[in-house]
This record gives sequence, structure tokens and C-alpha cells, in this order.
Amino acid sequence: MTTAAILTAAGSGSRLGYDEPKALVGLGGRPLVAHAARRLVASGVVDVLVVTAPRARADDVTRALAAEDLPIPVRVVEGGASRQASVAAGLAALPQEVDVVLVHDAARALVPPSLVARVAQAVRSGHRAVIPGVPVSDTIKQVGEVSVEGAPVLATVSRDRLRAVQTPQGFSRELVDRAHVAGLVRAASEATAATDDAALVEAIGIGVWLVDGAEDAFKITTPRDLAAAELALAGHLAVDELEQVEAALVALRAERRSPVPEGRDRSPAPEGRDRSPVPEGREPTESDAVPDDEAAS
Ligand code: CTP
Ligand code: MG
Repeated sequence: MTTAAILTAAGSGSRLGYDEPKALVGLGGRPLVAHAARRLVASGVVDVLVVTAPRARADDVTRALAAEDLPIPVRVVEGGASRQASVAAGLAALPQEVDVVLVHDAARALVPPSLVARVAQAVRSGHRAVIPGVPVSDTIKQVGEVSVEGAPVLATVSRDRLRAVQTPQGFSRELVDRAHVAGLVRAASEATAATDDAALVEAIGIGVWLVDGAEDAFKITTPRDLAAAELALAGHLAVDELEQVEAALVALRAERRSPVPEGRDRSPAPEGRDRSPVPEGREPTESDAVPDDEAAS
């Protein structure tokens, strides 16, 4: 099986309120998109990465990823008018051999690699659409018409069976392609677009499976969320997980860039608008654009 991750990073981040697009905003010295990409790759389950970038900022996203020296092929494509449209652009850029797709938001920059692996594993074990979710801790009320003065409460929803849903969401490629084609008319604007990819799968009547999410996979939407992410980096993540991510990347670089044993061919590089990032000052090598055939098994 060949697994691709589509990393959505084409949004403007209007609620965060920076001049920069959100994915390029720094967190502990790295842009959010770089954190997310490192964590996807450190999971060890991703063979190729496609990143959606804001129009006119694709080069900046490419540079940010090149600085990470990721040991798998990386392709940067322009996003669309909505998150859904951006994912569709990512799907269109996938190499042909990909059969499992993880869709992840750069805004969930601190996703644990173990969560990425859990979602991929559930897809590989036969669930065609898999989402991570966490229990909700607030009491949830359904309300009537909302005015400036408030809103009438209609009902209290039992929260036992409610889950707040995260990314990465994992799919068989055939299914996520079909769901996006079926929902294409919704993609033109955020007002009509699906807010996650699983909703498009549900809309064509196919079941979706939920696995345990993770607290650290929270979405950075507001300045307060960014401050919470800084705290997580300075606190518990700094001690163990950051070192684990770095160690996993070092091991993968060594594994995927080791010479190919005799008698084995490397798979061809994916075709198309490839912007495989190569760090400045380093000549591109074969391994920058060519996936190890082992990764495609
Ligand atoms: N995204 C995207 N293309 C879009 C809109 C969003 O790739 N046209 C990505 C964002 O970059 C983000 C993820 O989808 O990683 C989730 O979206 P959200 O958190 O809403 O980010 P933004 O749209 O950038 O933020 P805002 O809604 O506050 O403007
Ligand atoms: Mg948005």
C-alpha cells in the first residue's frame, strides 16, 4: 500500500489575525506547516506528502518544508477557494500508485505521530473512512433563533455519544476521490463547503469509523490557541515527544536514503508540477524526488 498525506495549508488564518497566512506563522521557531509536516512524516506511515499552499505563497511554503529535509517526496500545490477545494486540488496531484489518503490540517500543527499511525492503521485494516475524535467536556445545548440578546434553549444534547472531530482523516483513495467528485458543487465557497472530508463520505451514504483522537491534535484557530500551542511546546511536548519526532525523522532519513540493494529498482518519481523542496545550498539528489520502493509496499 502507498499512503499519501494531503496537508491543507492554503487558508488565510483570518481568525488568527496575522498578516501572514496561518500555515506560515511561527511556533517555537518553526512555521505551523513545518511542524505538521514533520509529525506526519515522523509517524513512518506516510510515503508521499502533498501540501496545499495559498496562491502566491507556494514558494514560501516550499522553502519552509525544504528546511526540514524530509525523507519523502513533497509536492506543493495551490489551494482553492475553500478547504474542500484545496483538498480536491491535493487529490488531483497525487501519484497514481497511492491507495490510502490521509488529509490533515496544518492548523493541527502538534498532532502526535502516534495518532497519524492509528488512523492509517485503521484504514489499512479495512475501514474505508476513518476519523479521530475526542469526547466533549462542555455541556451542549441546542438553541433556537439567535439574536443579539441571546437565544432560547431548545434541548440539552447528551454528550456521551458526541465527539469533537480532528485530523488526520484517513480514506481509501477510491472513496475519497468519489466523495469529492460527488460534493464538487459545494466547494466554491466556505459557506457551502464541507468542513471535513468525512462529511462528503457520509453524504454519499458510506459509513465512517471513529478512533480515539488526541488532545495535542487541537486546531490552532485563534491567538489563544497559538498561545496554548506555545505552552504545549514549552511544557510536556518539549521533554519527550519533540525528541521522538526528531529521532524518528533521523532514522527515516537514514533508512530511505540508504543505497538501494542490487537487483531492486526504485519507483519512478511522481509526475506533474513537482516542487520537491531541496534545502538551499544543497544539490538535489536522486532521493529528493524518488520514493523508496519499500515505502510503496
Ligand atoms: N485551508 C486550505 N484552503 C482553504 C482554507 C483552509 O487549505 N481555502 C486549510 C487551512 O490552511 C488550515 C485548514 O484548512 O490548515 C483548516 O482551516 P482553518 O483552521 O479554518 O484555517 P483558515 O481557513 O486558514 O483560518 P480562518 O478560517 O480563520 O481564515
Ligand atoms: Mg477557514
